[in-house]
Amino acid sequence: MLLGVNIDHVASLRQARYRASGDAGGAHAEPDPVRAAHEAELGGADIVTAHLREDRRHLHDRDLALLAQLVRARLNLEMSMAPAMIELAVRLRAAGGRPEMVTLVPEGRNEVTTEGGLDVAGAAAPCAAAVASLKGAAGGLCVSAFIDPDPAQVEAAHGAGFDAAELHTGQYANAFARCGGDAAAHGAELRRHVARLIEAGHRARALGMRLNLGHGLNYLNLPPLLGPRGVSGVAELHIGHAIVARAVYTGLRAAVADMRALIRAGPGPG
Ligand code: PXP
Repeated sequence: MLLGVNIDHVASLRQARYRASGDAGGAHAEPDPVRAAHEAELGGADIVTAHLREDRRHLHDRDLALLAQLVRARLNLEMSMAPAMIELAVRLRAAGGRPEMVTLVPEGRNEVTTEGGLDVAGAAAPCAAAVASLKGAAGGLCVSAFIDPDPAQVEAAHGAGFDAAELHTGQYANAFARCGGDAAAHGAELRRHVARLIEAGHRARALGMRLNLGHGLNYLNLPPLLGPRGVSGVAELHIGHAIVARAVYTGLRAAVADMRALIRAGPGPG
């Protein structure tokens, strides 16, 4: 099972400080999602996912250009299927053969992160056209649809030519959080969400699609989802927030100690 790490949450943090400075805030703006991608690779990420939004409010074109040059893992470009975004992915593929994977997601201007799945069943023709344009650019591109765990959406995604279905695990994650992970007390609701993921996952695999999961997965809710009564045959997990959040806990102490040491060392030259 491959791990894809969504690094756009790092860009969200950068933009919270540097938005007013324009573009990506200059060379010293931090945290740099490109550097974060390198750290993710060192930690074992098989895939680096970058969500370039139409309004560029998190990742910027500069980030994507550098990621395309520097990432050694598989690069997954997450984006809407707006014509300008499709053209951009096609251009990047033509210029340097990257990204290796494109995940199409719906995009809302006011959402903090992607909220729902792409309604492929409700927009079959535009989805098929987007997939055809992406695949027409150069062979070998994996095109994935981020969809709700609904067999009808899976079938529509297959019909539109998508290679992979990334099933939206957000509702499962929310249900898990609501019951504090206590499946014994709140088993029925959790089981219902897991059952939907299992059914949609079966459908995807039966149709020969790659089965991926993502959204809201964390260190607590992931193990039961992949356990004996969970979803089988998963090819990739796509996780962002929980990993970036954990980096605060695992890294903050060292970061404060570094600042402490700097202060202790006294004034620098000039
Ligand atoms: N998959 C897709 C398609 C997403 O849009 C996101 C959000 O960044 C994720 C996975 C990861 O979700 P999270 O950040 O909640 O782990």
